[in-house]
Amino acid sequence: MDYLFKKLKMNKITEFIKKSPKAELHLHIEGTLEPSLLFRLAKENNIQIPFSSINEIKAAYNFKDLESFLKIFYQGSRVLLREQDFFDLTWAYLLKCKEENVVHTEIFFDPQTHVNRGVDFNLVINGIYKALKKANKEFGLTFGVIMCFLRHLDERSAFKMLDHALEHKDKIIGVGLDSSEIGHPPKKFEGVFKKAIDHGFLTVAHAGEEGPPEYIWEALNFLKVRRIDHGVQCLNDRKLVQKLRNDQIPLTVCPLSNVKLCVFNNLNQHNLKKMLKEKLMVMVNSDDPAYFGGYVNKNLIESQIALNFSMDEVKTLMINSFKSSFLKEEEKKEWIKKF
Ligand code: ADE
Ligand code: ZN
Repeated sequence: MDYLFKKLKMNKITEFIKKSPKAELHLHIEGTLEPSLLFRLAKENNIQIPFSSINEIKAAYNFKDLESFLKIFYQGSRVLLREQDFFDLTWAYLLKCKEENVVHTEIFFDPQTHVNRGVDFNLVINGIYKALKKANKEFGLTFGVIMCFLRHLDERSAFKMLDHALEHKDKIIGVGLDSSEIGHPPKKFEGVFKKAIDHGFLTVAHAGEEGPPEYIWEALNFLKVRRIDHGVQCLNDRKLVQKLRNDQIPLTVCPLSNVKLCVFNNLNQHNLKKMLKEKLMVMVNSDDPAYFGGYVNKNLIESQIALNFSMDEVKTLMINSFKSSFLKEEEKKEWIKKF
């Protein structure tokens, strides 16, 4: 009886997750490249990939850390060449949003991954943006585009990307920082973030995914970020937890990503529940869903089951995603009212 009751309750929460409106704040558009599309584009663009079937691609998605993932991720991105490729990639993700009731999404793109192999910046942003505008027109999805600098490259290269972004100020709302974390502290990018802020871009940064709490401090103090992407290492620094709680700085947590990249051994050991108990401004996102095995709903549902979240905790996570978004205050209120 107890088992039956638990199962019924679980189904109720699962259904609630699926049907509720959601915002996604941590999503790399290149990380939505599903094996089927990767395969098709490799053929059409005549790009050699070290896989002969979709199953072989899937089997290669076994990672031991962030670095081992990024190697495969950048390799996969090589099949994206034409504006239509970026459109198709983005459109496929947006259809997924529609299916999952994601009503607002703020997506990252990594221009250096493309420009540094000869792909035109304009073509990348135009392909992505056209798909987003179409989704807005056809099913009302709202969005923001955030351009990320690759932190394993130097700041000079980031400045070049910022110059490109300035020509697309109407399409890009903010800048971020991603790629290999350890050995690449946020401070390295202080200058380019300052220039971005001076030009009115919002700022976010990956920090405390694998790297130490110190990197979160640096992202806050030197890059003046509005949100921290991941941030799961913050619990190792009590002063930092206090600061994040007092200022309600959003941490865009990605549970399935953290397990796939071995930040936590399994979902039961994820610290998201502890972060909620600390009253931190956390929510659930999918990061690179094509590589990590699930979009937002799966991240929410599996975390709820593994960490035994109550309905109230699930609601808090979903409300936090709207609160932490770059939507206007009135728009946030409208969505939050629905819970
Ligand atoms: N680029 C794509 N996914 C990433 C992640 N999880 N961390 C850092 N850089 C990334
Ligand atoms: Zn990420």
